Amino acid sequence: MRPTTTSLLAFGLLIIGIVAVTLILILLGRIKATQHPKFFRWAHRIAGYIFIILYLFICVIMFQKLTGNSSALSAKDAIHAYLGIVIFPILIVKICIVRRFKKYYLRLPIYGMIIMIAVYMTVTLSAGYFMLSTARSQYIVLSDKGRLVRVNVNIGRKIVRQTCSTCHSLERVFSYVKTEAGWRDYVSRMRAKDQEILSDRETLEAVGYLVKNLGIDDTKMDVQLGMKIILEKCHKCHTLERIFTFKKTQAEWAQTLELMRSFDPYLLNDSEAHQVNYYLGKVLAKQQAGQ
Ligand code: HEC
Ligand code: HEC
Repeated sequence: MRPTTTSLLAFGLLIIGIVAVTLILILLGRIKATQHPKFFRWAHRIAGYIFIILYLFICVIMFQKLTGNSSALSAKDAIHAYLGIVIFPILIVKICIVRRFKKYYLRLPIYGMIIMIAVYMTVTLSAGYFMLSTARSQYIVLSDKGRLVRVNVNIGRKIVRQTCSTCHSLERVFSYVKTEAGWRDYVSRMRAKDQEILSDRETLEAVGYLVKNLGIDDTKMDVQLGMKIILEKCHKCHTLERIFTFKKTQAEWAQTLELMRSFDPYLLNDSEAHQVNYYLGKVLAKQQAGQ
C-alpha cells in the first residue's frame, strides 16, 4: 500500500477519535440530561467501533510492512511503531470497563484522553511527517506506459541510496550523467540482474531522481553541466590545468575531445560529449581573427 494511502487512513483514525471524544464531552457537559443523551451515547459508540476497526486494519498493514522490510528501523519509525502498539492495551482496558467493570466508569474519560494523545503522537510522527515532507518535495513528470505520472524525487533519492548500493558503491551511479532514456535503460538493466530489488513504481521513482539530478537533456545545452562533467572525468590522465589554460576554436576543441575519447572509449557517452563540447566552445573559446 502506498504511503499516501496509509497516511490518509492514519488521519482518518485521528479524526474519528476526535469526533468520538467531542461527542462524549458534549454529553458529559450537558446539565439537563433530557437533551438527546441517547443520540450522543450511540454516536460515540459507533465512532468508537469504527475507530477500533480502522485501528486494527492499520495495525495489520503496518505489521506486513514491518515484516516485509529487512533493514533496521530508524529511530523515528521505532518510536512510531511502539506508540502505535501501546494504544492496543489501553483500548482493551477501556472496552473492558465499559462492558464489565462499571465501578471504574468515572475513569473512562482519562483512558479516552490517553488513547487520543497516543494516536496523535503516532500519527503526527509518521503520516504528519510524511505529508509535510511530501509537500516540500520536488517533482518530475515522467511518462509511464503511455501515461504521464508525477514522481516524487525525494522518494526516488531514498530508493537510489538504499537499493543501488546493495551490489556496488553509489560512486558507480553518481559518476555518470545520462539522458532520461539512458537512465531508464540502466535501471532496467540493473533490475534484470535481480527482479526483487525494485517494484514498477519504485523504478519510476528512482529514474525520476536520477533524471532530475544526474540527467542530461540533449536538446538543452548547459554550461554548468559541461563543467561538472569535465571536473569529474578529465583528471584521470592529466591535470585539469591542461584543459583550462587552453583557448581553442570550437572546431579545434571538437577535435581534441575526439582524441581524448579515442584514448579511452568509455570516457564520455555521446550526450556527455555534447555538453562538454558546448562548454569548451563557449567558455574556453579562442577569439577568432576579426572578432
Ligand atoms: C543486483 C545487483 C545490482 C543492483 C541492485 C544495482 N546494480 Fe548497478 N551494476 C551491477 C553490476 C553487476 C554492474 C556491472 C556490470 C554492468 O555494467 O552491467 C553494475 C554497473 C552499474 C553502472 C555502471 C555501468 C558501467 O558501464 O560502468 C551504473 C551506472 C549502475 N550500475 C547503476 C545502478 C543503479 C542506478 C542502480 C539502482 C537502481 C543499480 N545500479 C543497482 C549490479 C547491480
Ligand atoms: C585516457 C586518458 C585521458 C583522459 C581521460 C583525458 N585526457 Fe586529455 N590528454 C590525454 C593525453 C595522453 C594528452 C596528451 C596528448 C598530446 O599531447 O598529444 C592529453 C592532452 C589534453 C589536452 C591538450 C591537448 C593539446 O591540444 O595540446 C587537452 C586540452 C585535453 N587533454 C583535454 C581533455 C579533456 C577535456 C578531457 C575530459 C573530457 C580529457 N582531456 C581527458 C589523455 C587523456
